[in-house]
Amino acid sequence: MTPNATAKLIVKDLRKTYGPVVALTDASIEVREGEFLTLLGPSGSGKTTMLMVIAGLVQPDSGEVWIDGKLATYAPSFKRDLGMVFQNYALFPHMTVAENIAFPLRMRRLGQADIAREVKRVLDIVRLPHVADRLPRALSGGQQQRIALARCIVYGPSIILMDEPLGALDKKLRDEMQLEIKRLHTELGITVLYVTHDQEEAMVMSDRICLMNDARIEQLGTPADLYFRPRTLFAAGFLGESNILDATVTAVENGRAVLRLAVGDDALVRAVARDGVKPGQSVKLMVRPECLTVLGQGERAENEIQAGLKDVIMVGGITKHYARLPDGKEVVAANLTRGPVAQAAAGEALRLGWSADSSVLLV
Ligand SMILES: Nc1ncnc2c1ncn2[C@@H]1O[C@H](COP(=O)(O)OP(=O)(O)OP(=O)(O)O)[C@@H](O)[C@H]1O
Ligand SMILES: [Mg+2]
Repeated sequence: MTPNATAKLIVKDLRKTYGPVVALTDASIEVREGEFLTLLGPSGSGKTTMLMVIAGLVQPDSGEVWIDGKLATYAPSFKRDLGMVFQNYALFPHMTVAENIAFPLRMRRLGQADIAREVKRVLDIVRLPHVADRLPRALSGGQQQRIALARCIVYGPSIILMDEPLGALDKKLRDEMQLEIKRLHTELGITVLYVTHDQEEAMVMSDRICLMNDARIEQLGTPADLYFRPRTLFAAGFLGESNILDATVTAVENGRAVLRLAVGDDALVRAVARDGVKPGQSVKLMVRPECLTVLGQGERAENEIQAGLKDVIMVGGITKHYARLPDGKEVVAANLTRGPVAQAAAGEALRLGWSADSSVLLV
């Protein structure tokens, strides 16, 4: 059966092993035309393996790759109309920048005049029109990475695969290049499959993130989905800070789960329910620090919990309250700094509040 024809790239049930090592398994994704999709995950989780299989540089044990509605699992790499950019730039060191960029066009037998025009066009796009005659070693890391990008986009591939392309750059340059790649993606309307293990980079750049863990896809969704609706403890822990509380489900009603927290407080709290959760079940409840507020006198919240203040840290515009629950567990509330108000003292009793909508059940 032909899968969804509107998808630009489809990966179905991919599996790849190296001897006893399972590098990738049960991997299925659909990348839409013009989408920026990022594979995010810890080292060894299978990101590069997935990219290599899609590129045709590694053969899968089983599964399928579809590009533009055509089965490409066994098509040779050069027939897949893909562009690739990797961490180590891979520019030819003995060729000038212009020759490097011209290389894929010569392979495609374009005429001299066309090549010169195209090289100039992409050098303008990556904002380096003045370096055409230099050798790669006479460029900074960020400039080399831009030339690698230019060489990749010059022949107009419909999908670009990038494996940690900014991994070798320092933080400031990486931030600049993130925006540069985003701009190119938007202006050229290319479909991008990007790999990083940096959660912030993934959040900044992606339309959707495919979170990988131990050779499998853990969760696939928009950055907001993954951040506010993680499905697992792993997903909650990998993206951002989180407060995790132990709880028991007492009821499920109208899309809400009613929970008794394990901290000893008798109060019940509510969270967004999830499929299959039943009364009596032990679960974890996750609340992001910015969804937890320190309640003032007379202030109420849908969910409340008592805690003892441990520490207050003002990080410019954000103030973090570290508090201890009756069972010793630590939680953190991060809220906008309201001004130079008198600080609460360590050990002081606090009430923390949050909404049912901002709490997530993890199983
Ligand atoms: N050629 C190979 N031979 C044997 N094992 C391999 C080979 N390539 C990858 N692996 C193994 O497959 C698993 C997935 O590797 P992969 O390179 O896809 O991870 P990754 O998510 O890209 O990690 P990183 O963030 O470190 O680049 C790892 O356990 C790795 O050791
Ligand atoms: Mg890798």
